[in-house]
Amino acid sequence: MTAKLIDGRQVSATVREEVSARVKKRLQDGKRAPGLAVVLVGEDPASQIYVRNKRRDCESVGFASFQYDLGADATQVQLESLIDDLNDNPEVDGILIQLPLPPHLDADPLLLRIHPDKDVDGFHPYNLGRLCQRKPELRPCTPAGIIRLLDSIGTNYKGAHALVVGASNIVGRPMALELLLKGATITVAHRFTQDLAGYVAQADILVAAAGKPGLIKGEWVKPGSTVIDVGMNRLDSGKLCGDVEFDAARERAAWITPVPGGVGPMTIATLLQNALEACERRDI
Ligand code: GUN
Repeated sequence: MTAKLIDGRQVSATVREEVSARVKKRLQDGKRAPGLAVVLVGEDPASQIYVRNKRRDCESVGFASFQYDLGADATQVQLESLIDDLNDNPEVDGILIQLPLPPHLDADPLLLRIHPDKDVDGFHPYNLGRLCQRKPELRPCTPAGIIRLLDSIGTNYKGAHALVVGASNIVGRPMALELLLKGATITVAHRFTQDLAGYVAQADILVAAAGKPGLIKGEWVKPGSTVIDVGMNRLDSGKLCGDVEFDAARERAAWITPVPGGVGPMTIATLLQNALEACERRDI
């Protein structure tokens, strides 16, 4: 079997069109455009690219973009004060602090300081708690984007065994909660897991989010399964590759995401959706 590709570029374009149409309708109704504040601290090259793309997409769907580029020497107090200002600013519906922050800054208290109604990343304990309780409000972008991809191919979650590889706060943990919410039976594998191959062999849905190139061998993949690769690893050759051995996995799976062009585009599309939702809820 050669797996069909799940086209994240196409699905994310549909999401962006939906958001754009809803923004247009708001403006026609005399309402304001959603406002998204994106904060970048320091000069991490990957973060600079992510932030540039977020701001570009934000403007392309008609949002107001609020941009804050702070030097690598920014202090915790400076960031706290910026977050307080953005929380109080009625034109800002969403606040995103690009991670990782430089090592002298402590991200957790800053993420906690963002008002949960403006937490478009879905990282605030309130929003994660709501997801745990099966009443999600603002949801972490990458896992919610992956659910949209899985829905787009008509995934049957109930009765399926889903394996999430990686237990990060940004992807792995909320991904497991999203899949549980859909009715799948969940396993989360992480650095201490023994016999990863054995778990992969039983996974009807595999989400690989470990950040380790080629960690998942193609021969482990369950025939007929769906493989979602969140990995974005840059090899010494400059080539981007995922956590899954793509060519070999493609020969066994029924569906697979490419890297790039799979999960990546869904993260920003979901961010836009979250910002619009945050705006519509506040609707002032
Ligand atoms: N760094 C890597 N992924 C993300 C994300 O989804 N949101 C933020 N804020 N930072 C990130």
